[in-house]
Amino acid sequence: GERFRVVLIGGSGVGKSAITIMFLQGTFISEYDPTLEETYRKTITINGKCCLLDILDTAGQERYHTLESHYVRNGDGFIIVYSITSKATFSNVRKLYDLVLRVKDSDSFPTVILGNKNDLEEERDVTIEEGKELSTELGCPFFETSAKENHNIAESFTALVINLRKK
Ligand code: GTP
Ligand code: MG
Repeated sequence: GERFRVVLIGGSGVGKSAITIMFLQGTFISEYDPTLEETYRKTITINGKCCLLDILDTAGQERYHTLESHYVRNGDGFIIVYSITSKATFSNVRKLYDLVLRVKDSDSFPTVILGNKNDLEEERDVTIEEGKELSTELGCPFFETSAKENHNIAESFTALVINLRKK
């Protein structure tokens, strides 16, 4: 059957693990426990077709960075996450997508860009227009998400699988 390796990348504390756990278990992790590297597996049905996802949740913190190019090499599709409360994490998106393209030696690759924590409107530092503009330029689907409110989480994984099927 169909099987895809999905890799979540992005700055530390942007919510990669919270997004992953919400998608897998439907619960929100409110504590911050920096990730080293975690793998998960989930079967989902999209457009009537079953699909097995191997999900790799990577470390955002620099000191846990091992071989970035290694997990990029093994990924079939990527979810690049920034936080709408942090311009620095948004600036990182382009660098990360460039890394994906470099490692894959390609000018496009199945990737979804997420502006997470959109429940924190009062702390917003990146507008939705900035997110849309960058994603359009890079040719990637874009969603603002909230792992806390389970907003656009399943939709994001669905959009990635649809892109992976087109490949
Ligand atoms: P690293 O593992 O260090 O790379 O961080 P991460 O990207 O996995 O971040 P993590 O999921 O651990 O979330 C960091 C903190 O932000 C935690 O306290 C989460 O509860 C919180 N958080 C994650 N997503 C959201 C969200 O959508 N809204 C709000 N309000 N908080 C969030
Ligand atoms: Mg994490």
